[in-house]
Amino acid sequence: SAPVKIAVLGCGTVGTQVVRLLLEQASDLAARVGAPVELSGIYVRDTTTPRDAAVPVDALTSDAQALVDSSDVVVEVMGGIEPARTLILRALERGSAVVTANKALLAQGGAELYEAADAAGADLYYEAAVAGAIPIVRPVRESLAGDRVTRILGVVNGTTNYVLDEMTTKGLDYDAVVAEAQRLGYAEADPTADVGGHDAAAKAAILASLAFHQRVGIDDVYCEGITAVTADDIAAATETGRVIKLLAVAEQTDAGVSVRVHPTLVPRDHPLAGVRGAFNAVFVEAEAAGELMFYGQGAGGVPTASAVLGDIVSVARHKAGGGKGPRESNYARLEVLPMSAA
Ligand code: NAP
Ligand code: HSE
Repeated sequence: SAPVKIAVLGCGTVGTQVVRLLLEQASDLAARVGAPVELSGIYVRDTTTPRDAAVPVDALTSDAQALVDSSDVVVEVMGGIEPARTLILRALERGSAVVTANKALLAQGGAELYEAADAAGADLYYEAAVAGAIPIVRPVRESLAGDRVTRILGVVNGTTNYVLDEMTTKGLDYDAVVAEAQRLGYAEADPTADVGGHDAAAKAAILASLAFHQRVGIDDVYCEGITAVTADDIAAATETGRVIKLLAVAEQTDAGVSVRVHPTLVPRDHPLAGVRGAFNAVFVEAEAAGELMFYGQGAGGVPTASAVLGDIVSVARHKAGGGKGPRESNYARLEVLPMSAA
C-alpha cells in the first residue's frame, strides 16, 4: 500500500515524543494501520534550536503550508490559536485528517473546525486535548453516544493537581512548585492557563459539548483557578480532614447545561482526594451506564503522546482503508494461545 504521510506541527514537550514514537514504532504502526506510516516533516518556529536526539534534524521545516499540503495526516501539537487554526483548516479543507492536542483552540473555535471537517469528509481527532493519556474523548463521544450523560466531574489539569499536591504533602512554596511543573513538561507554554483554571475550563467545555450534544465554548464556563489558594487554606483543609482540588463539573440541570471550574474542599476519603501529582480522574454519570471512572496520567510529553499516537493510528487506518474501520492486520498479529482444558 502507499505510505500514509504524517506531518507534525510543533516539536516541544509533546511533539518530540510523538516524533520519537512514530519513528521507533514505525513497523508496529504500519501493521496496525495496514500501510507504512511515514513522517513527512516537522514544522517548528526555529529549525536551528538544538533538539532531542530522537528528532531527525533534516525533517524540520519552517514552511508549514508546503508541509501541510504534502501530507495525508496533520498532527498539530504547537498550541495557541494562530497559526494552528489556519493550518488545521487548510489541512481539513484539502481532505487531510487532523489530530490535535489543542484544547484552547477546540474550546474557542471548535465549531469552525468540526464544520470544516464535516464539509470535507475529513477526520478530526483530539483524544490528547482532554486529560493527557486518559481515553475520555472517545468514551464520551462514541461509547456513551446511546446513553444520556447527566454529569461529568473530575480533576482535568495535571499542573494544578501537582502544585496543590506538592504544597499539601511537602509544604512546598507555590512559585517553586509551578516552576517544577513547567520543568517536568506538565504546564502550558504560558502556565497562567493552568493556574488560572482556563486549561481545565477548555477541557470541561469540550467534554460538555460531547456529553450534552450542544455547543459549549470556553466563555460558557465559570472559571476560578488556584492563584488565590494560600498555604493557610491548605493547612486549614488538612486540619479538617479534607484536601483542596481544582474540580471541573459539567452537568445537565433543569435550567440547562452548567459547566464550572473552581477549587473545592474534598473529604480525604473521597476517591478524588487520592489523585496525586499530575494524574487526572474523571467521573462520568449516565442514566443507563451509571457511574464510570477514568484515571491516569493527565499531563507530560510521553503520556500525552500515547493519546496522539492512538488518534494517528485511527485516522491513518481510515486513510489506508477508505474509512472501513479495523483492518485484518489488527487480528493477524494476535498470538494464538492454547485453549484452557476447562
Ligand atoms: P511546547 O513544549 O511549548 O511546544 C510547542 C512547539 O510548537 C515548539 O516546538 C514550537 O517551536 C512550536 N510552535 C509553537 N508556536 C509556533 C508557531 N507559532 N509557529 C511554529 N511553531 C510553533 O508545547 P507542548 O507542551 O508540547 O504542548 C503542545 C500542545 O499540546 C498544546 O496545545 C498543549 O495544550 C497540548 N497538550 C500539552 C500537554 C502537556 O502535558 N505538555 C498535554 C496535553 C495537551 P520551537 O520548538 O521552534 O519553539
Ligand atoms: N497543562 C496541561 C495540564 C497539560 O497540566 O493538565 C495537559 O493537558
